[in-house]
Amino acid sequence: MKRLVLFVLASALIVTSCGGRQESDLKNVDPRVDSLLNIMTLDEKIGQMVLFTSDWDVTGPTIREGYLDDIRSGRCGNVFNAYTVDYIRELQRVAVEESRLGIPLMFGYDVVHGHKTIFPIALGESCSWDLDLMRRSAAASAAEAAASGLNWTFAPMVDISVDPRWGRVSEGAGEDPYLGSLIAEARVKGFQGDDLADPLTVLACVKHFAAYGAPVAGRDYNTVDMSERQFREFYLPPYKAGVNAGALSVMTAFNEYDGVPATGNAYLLKDILKGEWNFQGFVVTDYTSINEMVHHGYARNDAEAGVKAVNAGVDMDLQGEVYFTYLRGLVESGIVSERTIDEAVRRILNVKEKLGLFDNPYLYCDSAREKEVVSDPEIKALSREVARKSMVLLKNNGCLPFDRGDRIAVIGELAASRRDLLGSWKAAGEWDDMSSILDAVRAYNGPANVIYAEGCRKMGDDRSGYAAAMDAVNKADKVLMVIGEDWDWSGEAASRTDIGVPGVQSELLRLIASTGKPVAVVLLNGRPLVLEEESKDADAILEAWYPGTMGAEAVTDVIFGLYNPSGKLTMTFPRNVGQVPIFYYEKNTGRPIYLPSEKYKSRYLDSPNDPLYPFGYGLSYTQFKYSDLTLSSSEMKKGSTIEAQVTVTNTGKWAGEETVQLYIRDMVGSVTRPVKLLKGFEKVILAPGESRKIKFVIDEDMLAFWRHDMTFGTEDGDFRVMVGGSSSDLLQTAFSLVP
Ligand code: NOJ
Repeated sequence: MKRLVLFVLASALIVTSCGGRQESDLKNVDPRVDSLLNIMTLDEKIGQMVLFTSDWDVTGPTIREGYLDDIRSGRCGNVFNAYTVDYIRELQRVAVEESRLGIPLMFGYDVVHGHKTIFPIALGESCSWDLDLMRRSAAASAAEAAASGLNWTFAPMVDISVDPRWGRVSEGAGEDPYLGSLIAEARVKGFQGDDLADPLTVLACVKHFAAYGAPVAGRDYNTVDMSERQFREFYLPPYKAGVNAGALSVMTAFNEYDGVPATGNAYLLKDILKGEWNFQGFVVTDYTSINEMVHHGYARNDAEAGVKAVNAGVDMDLQGEVYFTYLRGLVESGIVSERTIDEAVRRILNVKEKLGLFDNPYLYCDSAREKEVVSDPEIKALSREVARKSMVLLKNNGCLPFDRGDRIAVIGELAASRRDLLGSWKAAGEWDDMSSILDAVRAYNGPANVIYAEGCRKMGDDRSGYAAAMDAVNKADKVLMVIGEDWDWSGEAASRTDIGVPGVQSELLRLIASTGKPVAVVLLNGRPLVLEEESKDADAILEAWYPGTMGAEAVTDVIFGLYNPSGKLTMTFPRNVGQVPIFYYEKNTGRPIYLPSEKYKSRYLDSPNDPLYPFGYGLSYTQFKYSDLTLSSSEMKKGSTIEAQVTVTNTGKWAGEETVQLYIRDMVGSVTRPVKLLKGFEKVILAPGESRKIKFVIDEDMLAFWRHDMTFGTEDGDFRVMVGGSSSDLLQTAFSLVP
């Protein structure tokens, strides 16, 4: 039967193999890689292109049993979902001592926002706009992971998304390609450090290539369809930034691009990634995504899917068993060329060499280092710092910060939850020793000053706890209500059509608010939520995301004013789900609204166009005033620069940190341009009353775009410059680009 499949494929596919596309040459390949390649059997080569899950953890639908035998026979060269030095050392021993060539295994895992010490989810962390902090958190996660025996993380996830129905927005850096690119770079550099062979760094994997964040209707794994212009301008830049930062692995996406599944898409993998970008690493599939090309209707069976994947430039098959099962026959019958296999294996071995595994296969297997590094108090302290800086104060009418010693009613199932603080990719994170928000508030405020009542669950319509909650509220001076989504309601396969706060949590909030007691809401969630009602009922709202291992302490720091919140949204919060997709870099259209009541304009009849909380927005316990936006010249000559300057003043009573944002609009182009695009930002700490002049250099790169003829560059003409503390509250001025 297998022979028959191969015969049919031979006639159908031989023409498509390689497709005449030229991959980049690998540079600086260690001679050991080629010597090894020369003595490898075809099975051993294909083994390097195989990645199987261990039975230690499960992150997808199937588990192959017997992978140890495959390691021994050289037919499985890489393992994921395994950690701890003891366990990994044993698997590595089998590879090194019991397989014919002793080629070391590479060990991957989803260390997405922490390994043992969990950091805030990536979307939350992006709201810090603090690139160095994100680099440091990735470096700390890498250190813990590497000390646990791992040498490869399936991160960073850099998918741009403008659709909060899609649960995986929690894993990315929000909606903006410029900020997303800087964050991709910071995270890759954090994970990989300066030297991949440093046993405290891991190989990064930029994912999911490409445009996975744009599924139709926000439903995970759904079809993606967009213009090449949209793709290149808004979706591709963060992947490119990750590759340019040195990431040596890239994971394909589950979706299709231009009708071709990403895992069989030579345009993406060969032309763009390995061609235009000269990517030097290897491409791994997402979980069984070669096999899924059959469901996509792009291949008749797994073998055909395998041919399409390998010829499109996929070097490694994650869990699909397609390369494992079919590649040998496909090569032997001439359908896939052995050169294609050699190219993939060279890429993979080259990375193993760079990881230092050829010099020492047990480089990452040091039990003493594991003890010392994993859960190091310094990493925990960093996790607390990142969590504080990730939180976004969405509303505050003076209710926050609380005073120590206030009698506080703490309400909500989520207030007492530990697991929910970690979010969906918890890696090796454990929650037994963590504090819940309730624990941390009690510890800081004194148990006698805290009255807890669950009130309601995070899901469902059980109202039986309302009475106890109201009783607690009546006994207290102030209320802290923790509401949001279950940890499993964002992340992979967690799309929602209703992105409101689930269950009866908001109903109870309204009841509590009706008592007139000041109510501060802390939100735990993985996506922008619809908060129209909550924003009226609550006196203060602190978006805490899923803040990680030290999240409870960090929430306490903020609500008691030990830290003045400084986070700014990196994704727009809509007023209602009907506005989705919604993002700040929309276009003006031919019928923008100027007057509130006009008809025949680009508007809704039943909702304003603007969001509830825009991109770049976030409050502080102090206030910042912007003034005197000036440019060094009203003309910028091509190839030169001009300078924008603005004065920022802290007019409040607290020292605070502000993120000063620069946006530019190209007024007229050969194609229409967005009403604004983020082009720079600077974080500044100001004491009460202090003023600072902030300068931005504007250069031609900031004005470049994909012009009508699909060349990338600038066009002469007028530009608007906007500066402020949120995408919707900006001072503006203008200049012209001249020849
Ligand atoms: C599927 C997810 O899409 C991907 O992000 C992850 O890295 C793999 N599973 C492996 O767990």
